[in-house]
Amino acid sequence: MARIFVTGSADGLGLALGRRLLADGHDVVLHARNQRRADDTRAAAPGASQVVVGDLATIADMLDVATQAERAGPYDAIVHNAGIGYTAPRREETVDGLEKHFAVNVLAPYLLTCLVRRPERLIYLSSGMHQGGRATLDDPQWTSRRWSGSRAYSDTKLWDVVLAFAVARHWPGVLANAVDPGWISTRMGGTGAPGSLDQGTRTQAWLAVSDDPGAKVTGRYFYDMREEQPVAATTHAALQDGLLDYCAGLTGTRLPA
Ligand SMILES: NC(=O)c1ccc[n+]([C@@H]2O[C@H](COP(=O)([O-])OP(=O)(O)OC[C@H]3O[C@@H](n4cnc5c(N)ncnc54)[C@H](OP(=O)(O)O)[C@@H]3O)[C@@H](O)[C@H]2O)c1
Repeated sequence: MARIFVTGSADGLGLALGRRLLADGHDVVLHARNQRRADDTRAAAPGASQVVVGDLATIADMLDVATQAERAGPYDAIVHNAGIGYTAPRREETVDGLEKHFAVNVLAPYLLTCLVRRPERLIYLSSGMHQGGRATLDDPQWTSRRWSGSRAYSDTKLWDVVLAFAVARHWPGVLANAVDPGWISTRMGGTGAPGSLDQGTRTQAWLAVSDDPGAKVTGRYFYDMREEQPVAATTHAALQDGLLDYCAGLTGTRLPA
């Protein structure tokens, strides 16, 4: 039995992954944005050992979530799943002055990675849409570009791959990988999406708990339990360290050596 923490698990792929891991007999800690969503999460996944609460759009709550998650740990695996999608009609700024997709999809997994005791395995949810992302730290907060929700999302999903690969390189004792779950029917994916929750969670579950040699690798990008090649720039050490430095500058917290 493994102990696994899944962020953004009140709904969609995170909830489905939590339920799948519980059904397989694992010990699972879930996460919801507020108390109401935590109640929903407990009702939907009554076997969860705990539900950590906090809005990952604010640095204060990211820190609080890290403290709660640390208390409920340690973990064999952490799945950084929480995310917001690609349909926002305009740029939204958080209380910290950050573009919201960047805060939730990139800075939150960065900060939780820094602050929660490192598990054996880390899984970061990316997307095939990362291929449309810009591999540059020129304007990550969208202050000088004309807004596009889908491009903002794509950028953050590219950064999720970069983050996974940066952690894999800096922490050789940890298995850190990125996953494209496929286009899956969730609130984010929409009702027209072809993939099921079963398809959309099996790669994360496999990477989190399997002893299959194929799952015990690091610094890879997966789709449907197979390694695929992400955008080449994600493997560049300078881009990886640039992202780590940028996030450290925003939060005052560096990735521990
Ligand atoms: N579905 C797809 O086709 C697809 C494809 C590629 C990648 N992905 C990735 O898979 C992950 C899960 O997506 P999904 O389809 O399951 O999306 P979803 O159905 O919209 O669920 C997202 C989850 O994240 C939570 N969340 C969002 N913002 C949050 C915040 N500020 N604080 C705390 N929790 C927050 C949501 O909580 P609430 O329910 O309370 O809002 C929800 O539990 C995302 O990282 C996404 O980028 C999905």
